[in-house]
Amino acid sequence: MKRLLLSCAMGVMSVTMLLPGGAQANEGVTEKERKQMTTVAHRGASGYAPENTMAAFDKAVDMKAEMIELDLQMSEDGELVVIHDTTVDRTTDGSGAVEDLTYEAMRELDAGSFFDEEFAGEPIPTLGEVLDEYRGKIGILIEIKSPSLYPGIEQKVADELTARNLHRPNNDKIMVQSFDHDSMKTFHSILPSVPVGVLLSYSDDGISDEQLSEFKEYAEAVNPAKDMMDEELVERIHNEGMETYPWTVRDRESADYLLELGVDGIITDYPDYVDPHPADEAA
Ligand code: G3P
Ligand code: CA
Repeated sequence: MKRLLLSCAMGVMSVTMLLPGGAQANEGVTEKERKQMTTVAHRGASGYAPENTMAAFDKAVDMKAEMIELDLQMSEDGELVVIHDTTVDRTTDGSGAVEDLTYEAMRELDAGSFFDEEFAGEPIPTLGEVLDEYRGKIGILIEIKSPSLYPGIEQKVADELTARNLHRPNNDKIMVQSFDHDSMKTFHSILPSVPVGVLLSYSDDGISDEQLSEFKEYAEAVNPAKDMMDEELVERIHNEGMETYPWTVRDRESADYLLELGVDGIITDYPDYVDPHPADEAA
């Protein structure tokens, strides 16, 4: 993973970048800082294409994000399927709980039209398909959703990675994360070579030193809701030897704020808000 720890070094010139539509990026954020940041396309580039589909992951590659984030649930017959909710109701033309539907039934569903008719017929991908298609092209951040509904899901994820030799360090950029920290402990015990992230929802109480000490026993990253982030929290996470990838950025101001804090990555629906690749646009 790229680290931003030294990005505030003396002598880095600040630049102002013109963004599409004439908006200007924050002058306090240097181009170098943007380049060193890991931009994670949340559910793919889900601001521009239907979340958790190949169309959204393709868009993230086109936009030169460094990673895609995806959500995993498990079908009735044990297939690891890429979908955010525990039901198919919101993002497809079907209905019902993922755990009650076979993969064959889910495969027939249209997971694109809810976003725009242009994407009609986009299927729900499997984890295997995503790994096969995107390994080597872009990093993959796998979120295990609702693991308590799916006993054994950690082993299944580990098997998919191992079968593709994706569990080896420095092979491809892979990370597994969850709000369920026990699930992450389990995953870490099965496949310790794959980095783990702990997700945290917003809490007024913040994150205690005790929590950070516990996380570092099995996790490489602490990924809180973006509104929890400040300079002190970034420093405390870094001091414990972990990285931080806050979520979910949907405006340029939040992206600039997090860049200035020195976080290691930003999880965003709009990869261009984090790094607009001005040199490419000028070409
Ligand atoms: O990657 C973190 C973020 O995806 C967590 O929230 O609901 O979008 O999965 P959610
Ligand atoms: Ca997610």
